[in-house]
Parts: sequence; C-alpha cells; structure tokens
Amino acid sequence: MCGSTIRTYEPGDEEGIASLLRTCFDTFRNYGLDGERWLEYLRINPGMKPEGAYILEEEGRIVSHVQVVEKDLRTPLGVVKVAGIANVSTHPDFRGRGYASTLLRRALKDYKDKGFPLSGLFTGFASGPQRIYRRLGFTDVTLDRYHLAPMMDAEKFASSVKYISVSEFVDQNLKAIASIYKDVGAMFSGWPPRSEVEWQEKFVKRLAYHSFFCIPRSEGDFMVAKEGDDVVGYVVGMRLPQERETYNVLEIVCDRCRVDVLQALYNWIVNRAKDIGCKAIRSILPPHANYERVFKGFASIVGRGVFMIALLNLKDLLGSTVGKRQLAEYAPSLRMKLTVGEQEIKLNIKGNEVEVDENIPPDAEVQMPPETFNKLLFGIIDVKEALLDSAVKSLCSLNTIRSALNVLFPTTPPHIWPADHW
Ligand SMILES: CC(C)(COP(=O)(O)OP(=O)(O)OC[C@H]1O[C@@H](n2cnc3c(N)ncnc32)[C@H](O)[C@@H]1OP(=O)(O)O)[C@@H](O)C(=O)NCCC(=O)NCCS
Repeated sequence: MCGSTIRTYEPGDEEGIASLLRTCFDTFRNYGLDGERWLEYLRINPGMKPEGAYILEEEGRIVSHVQVVEKDLRTPLGVVKVAGIANVSTHPDFRGRGYASTLLRRALKDYKDKGFPLSGLFTGFASGPQRIYRRLGFTDVTLDRYHLAPMMDAEKFASSVKYISVSEFVDQNLKAIASIYKDVGAMFSGWPPRSEVEWQEKFVKRLAYHSFFCIPRSEGDFMVAKEGDDVVGYVVGMRLPQERETYNVLEIVCDRCRVDVLQALYNWIVNRAKDIGCKAIRSILPPHANYERVFKGFASIVGRGVFMIALLNLKDLLGSTVGKRQLAEYAPSLRMKLTVGEQEIKLNIKGNEVEVDENIPPDAEVQMPPETFNKLLFGIIDVKEALLDSAVKSLCSLNTIRSALNVLFPTTPPHIWPADHW
C-alpha cells in the first residue's frame, strides 16, 4: 500500500469518484453519472455527506471508494442510526490488494466512534463482495424478495371497490401521505422515517427508484387514494428506462394497510400498466397478509441480493434505544446478561420498565450468535427461534427469559421501499 493515501472527500474529487463508479457499475454508467450529478446526491439525500465519502488514492488517482450513507432504520427496539455502506468500488487495475477491505475497515471504525451502533448494506448473495463483508463482521439478514405478475395474471384480480377514488397527487396531499407512511411504518422494521426534504426531492420534484437513481416525474406516476376528501393511501409507479415492458410499483401504502384501499390502488395500477403497454408488473411488497391478499396473482420470487448487518456497538444500540424506558407491556422481572459475539450488556427488566445497568448481578446469561441477533433485530426470526440458537445459562425458566425478551423484541417483519435503498 506504499504511495497510497486514505482520506475523505475534498472539493474537486467528484469527477474522480463519478469516473470510478462508472467504471465499476453498469448502473452508474447507464445513468451517465458525472461529478455534477454526484454533488446533487449530497443535496437531495440528507444521509449522504462529504465526510462519508471515503477515497483511496494512489499517485493522485482515486482508485478505490466507499460511501457511507447515514440512515435511521426502525427496529423493534426503536429507531437506530445505521451507517449504510454503498458504492464499494476498486478500479479493475487495482483489485485484490485489500483496498476495498481497508477503506471499509476505516469507515466502520469512524462510524462506530461517531456512535452508530449498526452498519447495513445490500449486496449479491454468494458474491465476492459478500465474502469481504462477512470477513468484516456483516451477517446475512434476509434475501431480496419481489413480486411479479404477467399482465394477464394481474388483470384477473382487479375487482371493483366502492367509495375509494384515485386521483393525481397534488402538493396539499403531502402531509396526509407522510403521516400514513409514518403510521404504517410502525408495523415493520427497516422502514426509515422520511423527512420533508426527502419527500420533496424523491417524490415531488422527481421520482426516485433508489437513493442514487431517479427519473423526471410524469402525470400518473404518483397517485392518491381518497375516501371522500380524506387521503387514505398512495401509490408510486413507473416504467424504468432499462425495463420498458415492466411496470414497477415503487411504493403502495394505505392507512392501516386497508384491503379496500389497496384494492382500489391495485386496480389503478393494472389499468395504468395496460394503458402504457407494459406486459408485466413488479413490486417489492411489505410482508403483510393484506398485500398478499390483494396481490394474489403475483409470484413471490427470491432474488440474488442479500441485506447484511454488522453490529458495531451493542452498548450504543441498547443505550440509544432502551436506555431506561417504559415498556409497552408488562414483562417478568429478569436481570440478564446478553452476549452477542464478543460484546455484552446487562439489562434489568422489571414490570413495565427496562434499564441498561452494568452493575446488576444477572439471573440469566444469554449468548447469541451475531447472525441470530441481527435477524431478531430485523424481524426475520422471533425470540423463541433466537433462544434456540443461543447458549443460555439461567436460574430462571426459559419461558421467563422468552416472555421478557418478547416484550423487548416484538416481531416486526422488515421492509424498505426502493427509494430508500442505498
Ligand atoms: C468488490 C470490489 C470493490 C473489491 O475490491 P478490492 O479492492 O479488490 O477488494 P479487496 O482487495 O479488499 O478484496 C478482494 C479479494 O482480494 C483479497 N485480498 C485482500 N487483501 C489482499 C492482499 N493484500 N493481497 C492479495 N489479495 C488480497 C481478499 O481476500 C479478497 O479475496 P476473495 O475474493 O477470495 O474473498 C471490486 O471488485 C469492485 O469494484 N467490483 C465492482 C463493484 C462491486 O461489485 N461492488 C460491490 C457492490 S456491493
């Protein structure tokens, strides 16, 4: 690594970063990413900051790059700051020298020091990058899953709905839509809170189909469902430039996931897709029975992508979420030491209160593998399954431990809409 320097973004680096990203990713090449568009990311994506852009330079040339995108993600414990890893890239002439691993190690250390308890990323399953991430402590949380239907299957399940109308989005609808998005999000993990800036930049001024990719918004792309004058849901859909035959439903969200509202928006999608000549409809839908019911003509397909999480700091994770707080339900009293990999924390759960307290003598010790803990944190497995994977030493019954942890970790399945992917 002699002659190489590691640093974060300085003005003027944007062309070098954009050029490297075009070389390493078809997506950025097809998108025509240049320095100016890269700088635009800093403006429209509040989590993307110049100090999160890591660069490895060799003789003045940017040859490796990692972007940290700061995300707030929901977990059963509460909303957590996550260092999102994106754009991991090394120029083909400089690969296999440990550059990407070195940059990642540095970025993860910095963000751990800044108090980010988790890091998260999306990558290809059984790929070279996945091997790098696993060596750095990331574990697989869940595989990508999407829903797809040929038009003729989708059409079969359009059925009329009374009292719900669907109309073009207007600015005045934004407040109600943001509120529905927030309320429904409480049922899922992942699902990030969205700021007014993000709503404006990703859905009103343009249409984002990923944190890094957007197209101009056209009439019919952003629709609102109403019951009388009340906004009760919305759908965002479009035809991607690279997939002309497929209509992509980017977001479909309704007040309390109401079936009638979902059905009204579904009918609208099918007509819209047909009108513009699409032959198939695709979406990444939240794991919820009402979506399954309305989208029953769709096949659920497992993709090649995997969502991975690294636990950077267990104490910060529980400290920033649990700290000392009231619980939604009563839990059996339990003083517990929880060990995840090399990290440990002590929790004092009593009645409807929980506190991180390093001074308590524990009644129970639970040693959970990081992969199990990360799955529990994103609602892939429940407490029972997590305990079956763990080593437990305890004076009290397993049932007591399970009941206490159930209150802390209610199972909320994961969902993140494409516009928030990084
Ligand atoms: C993925 C990518 C960033 C890796 O960059 P890199 O700098 O070559 O990564 P590293 O050198 O740290 O690791 C690559 C391999 O070299 C090995 N290696 C690490 N240090 C090494 C060293 N000093 N000498 C020799 N090999 C080394 C690693 O163990 C790894 O081996 P493996 O493939 O058998 O697991 C690069 O291939 C790339 O830009 N790909 C296209 C974009 C992409 O797919 N990005 C990931 C998106 S999620």
